[in-house]
Amino acid sequence: MNLNEAAASLLGAACGSAPTVVARAPGRVNLIGDHTDYNDGFVFPMAIPFGTAVAISPRTDRHVTAVSERFGSVSFALNDSPTTSEGWGRYLHGMVWALTNHGVDVPGFDAAVVSDIPGSSLSSSAALEMAIGTALAALAGEQVPSAALAQLGQHVEHEVIGVPVGIMDQLISAAGVAGCASLIDCRTLEIDHSPLPDTVRVVVLDTGTRRGLVDSKYAARRAVCERVASALAAPALRDVTLADLEGVDLDPTDRRRAMHVITENERTLGAAACARGGDAVGLGQLMNASHESLHDLFEVTGPAPDVAVRLARKLDGCLGARMTGAGFAGAAVALVEADAADHFVAEMTARFVAPPSQPSTEPPAFHVVWPVRGAHVVQPTA
Ligand code: GLA
Repeated sequence: MNLNEAAASLLGAACGSAPTVVARAPGRVNLIGDHTDYNDGFVFPMAIPFGTAVAISPRTDRHVTAVSERFGSVSFALNDSPTTSEGWGRYLHGMVWALTNHGVDVPGFDAAVVSDIPGSSLSSSAALEMAIGTALAALAGEQVPSAALAQLGQHVEHEVIGVPVGIMDQLISAAGVAGCASLIDCRTLEIDHSPLPDTVRVVVLDTGTRRGLVDSKYAARRAVCERVASALAAPALRDVTLADLEGVDLDPTDRRRAMHVITENERTLGAAACARGGDAVGLGQLMNASHESLHDLFEVTGPAPDVAVRLARKLDGCLGARMTGAGFAGAAVALVEADAADHFVAEMTARFVAPPSQPSTEPPAFHVVWPVRGAHVVQPTA
């Protein structure tokens, strides 16, 4: 049974109804460009074959009941504030609230949610938001463009969940294209999809570690970036060059954070150009440099991703490896020559052990992934 069928079957078991709509949205891995999106910069992520499926059927009253295979049941009334919901229900409730405010006539409904996104750092929250948003828009018979849907998800994160995320995760989950990584200009939301060279494979290195209590660190990094931009009277760090930083009186740590963002934007543009030109070696080198910058200057790589990255780089056929996403723990990503990928995965599986300072709480796992399409309805409205 695939994910879509599993969601439909869970809806039947929990609510006794057949779905009117089933929608699916993928998780993502970011190849390069981390902590740049909220600086109006550039990112180069791809949607991955792991995702979240939502099966929905309308109700005649103004209530929502929903069940998640992993996280249990939630229920609320459409008029309740989304902050009255807890756990995963807050994401669902938040999307209902955001879509309604956007003018979508969301009815009461029953829903079932199934996901196979492993570990952390692979955007399971964004996939949940985009799957729910896609399903509810279809249920209401509305077209919501992917950029608008992504912005609604980001709005939920800011206003309902309380984390000041950028747009990357929601936008790639909504708008990914099969076979392509996507260069996103996070200021204009323009997307340039580049087919990945077929001589390489992307391997997700899930260290089995989770970040706890790091939302505050993420928010603190964002605040530093905004402080430096404002000290330079720039709208965002996107508009600042390394030369601009010279001669300005900045806290040394703040300066290093800004240097990461400025150089990461350059690397990300370079990496997308490498991918377009089929230069997998160049792409891998930029991924390596990105990790070092996130480690030394931005200081967001966790001990376990660091160990995974260092091990990956020693293995045959590895062209580059780096942390991915917010950092601190969770997954890393490697670019590996296609014919070395199976051996690479076997070696990582045999040799990776998370360090005592950040032990795995789930078994580490290594997945060869190829880009898939973004959020879509898999079973149209009846
Ligand atoms: C998280 C956020 C994104 C982005 C990354 C870091 O995944 O949700 O918006 O800021 O961290 O690049």
